[in-house]
Amino acid sequence: MTVSTNPYAYDPRDRGKFYAHLQAELEAYLSDERDWLVNLANASALLYQRLPELNWAGFYLWRGEELVLGPFQGKPACTRIKLGRGVCGTTARARKTTVVSDVHAFPGHIACDSASASEIVVPLLLEGERLLGVLDLDSPRQARFDAEDARGLEAFAQRLVAGIDWPARLD
Ligand code: SME
Repeated sequence: MTVSTNPYAYDPRDRGKFYAHLQAELEAYLSDERDWLVNLANASALLYQRLPELNWAGFYLWRGEELVLGPFQGKPACTRIKLGRGVCGTTARARKTTVVSDVHAFPGHIACDSASASEIVVPLLLEGERLLGVLDLDSPRQARFDAEDARGLEAFAQRLVAGIDWPARLD
């Protein structure tokens, strides 16, 4: 009997390998496309398809005064988030990844879907300076994300940002 292995399968014991494969897939999408809308749309689909136990994966984009809902997969979500509000606004203000093991214990968490139990939000920064938005992943399982996911998703976000020609405004 031949046992076929899916190289993209999620193995919780080897997430380093999983995130390396995910990055390779992302590279393929970025190789002949540099448009922000196209690449964010495919990146949200890739994350939602490959990472197990998600109920939402997508982007909020910085539009000069607030974060505005961008390409995503999952249920319809809140559309506008002020800097400093919720997990996304907190991450955008601090410009640092936020891992929340229990969203109900996070002060000011914005509940778009009552199924969400934990969440990770990664800032999107151009050359470490210009705030472009955030990547937001939600899970129905508590403590779904940890520091290893943060490392893998930060690398993913950095590669994505570098693979796009960003216009002055994301209108
Ligand atoms: N939970 C987020 C809001 C966005 S939804 O999860 C898609 C927050 O508190 O920022």
